[in-house]
Amino acid sequence: MRTVDLIDKKKRGGNLSKKEIDFLLDGYIQGKVEDYQMSAFLMAVYFNGMSDEELLNFTINMKNSGEIIKLKSSKKFLVDKHSTGGVGDKITIILSPILASLGMGTAKLSGKGLGHTGGTIDKFESLNNFKFSQNNKELLNILNSTGIGLMGYSEKVVPLDKKIYSLRDVTATVDSIPLIASSIMSKKLAVESDIIVLDVKAGDGAFMKNISQAEELSKRMVNIGKNYGRKTIAIISEMDEPLGYNIGNSLEIIESIDSLNGNFSDDIKEVVYEIIYQILLFRKKVTSYSEAKDIIDKLIESKKPLKLLQKFLNLSGVEDNVTENVNLIKIADNKLKIISNKEGYINKISAKKIGEAAMIIGAGRSKKDDKIDYSVGIKLHKKVLDYVKKGEILAEIYYNDNAKLSESKILVEEAFLIEDFKKNSIKKTIIKVIQ
Ligand code: URA
Repeated sequence: MRTVDLIDKKKRGGNLSKKEIDFLLDGYIQGKVEDYQMSAFLMAVYFNGMSDEELLNFTINMKNSGEIIKLKSSKKFLVDKHSTGGVGDKITIILSPILASLGMGTAKLSGKGLGHTGGTIDKFESLNNFKFSQNNKELLNILNSTGIGLMGYSEKVVPLDKKIYSLRDVTATVDSIPLIASSIMSKKLAVESDIIVLDVKAGDGAFMKNISQAEELSKRMVNIGKNYGRKTIAIISEMDEPLGYNIGNSLEIIESIDSLNGNFSDDIKEVVYEIIYQILLFRKKVTSYSEAKDIIDKLIESKKPLKLLQKFLNLSGVEDNVTENVNLIKIADNKLKIISNKEGYINKISAKKIGEAAMIIGAGRSKKDDKIDYSVGIKLHKKVLDYVKKGEILAEIYYNDNAKLSESKILVEEAFLIEDFKKNSIKKTIIKVIQ
């Protein structure tokens, strides 16, 4: 077999067999296939796509390139929830303790934030002394005692994705739906779980700029899961605005604790409840949304999820009882109010602009090795469809460093689209569920 022939086959729109995919990918990780050959192959995929069978074989080979996170011995029903990257997206922090209270476990590798989207690792690491599990054994221990099994991504899991992603980054092949699907799903399949729930964002701040792209990506990922034998559900949600009110690491932990105390923003509640409903439906524990809602409402009232979150934090090194007293969480002292100069309905709050504004004042990284300031961020005072009067507060920037404040302020101001009319009478964050 020759690499050049496989590139030629894909260039002409052919489908590679499992043997051919393995030859190409094994050769690449072993250094026998050159970067320039893999680049040419990736570009051919960009234009000609991959069949479902090809995509499954590609994803399985990627998954097998590194360590598998073995969690089967835990005996719990394990949920791996993944978001394609949101602004203010704290769903995992809220969802995991609720699933734990229902006797399930979250099994998930979390990433660091880059660009305008945040990462779950950074949010937890904003708490004093917090340290994620460092290995499988620690992860299993904490998962068994709390039901919350979260760990940071390790270089050892799917190393082939890292190698291919770096190449995609410099060859303009990042935005290929089959390549995104295999990249995400290889990392999901490398963690043993019973169900994968994908929260696929659509909108200006998301990887997928419109709903039809998000739908196509969701279908490809759900098919990989199905063909592999792992139940996979994709929830497509709109990013017409950041999720919830707080953006920035410590601020998002505070909003997560508020949510588990029952004070949910409408969008966060919709996403969290829908994910749990879909899981309970799949497990045949409920037959309707209202049944699931009742169960979740009662759990929130009981404070059991909040207590499990605190236990998880304590076992992860946090000494403070932050779930009882959010004032123990450090946030920046300086605040700048963003005031509306217009009256009307808020029809959009650009997630991308708010995410960038938060990144600029230090809540996120523009480059991989940037240091972040956990205590800074943005607090929205209004959400989409709210009415605002001239002179009212739209948002507040929490900051420590004046240097980038004016740049951040302009972005926050620009993020709000205020018009004389209300673009919709009701707000729906979830657009579609695909399974
Ligand atoms: N996230 C990933 O993990 N991979 C991609 O290719 C895109 C987004």
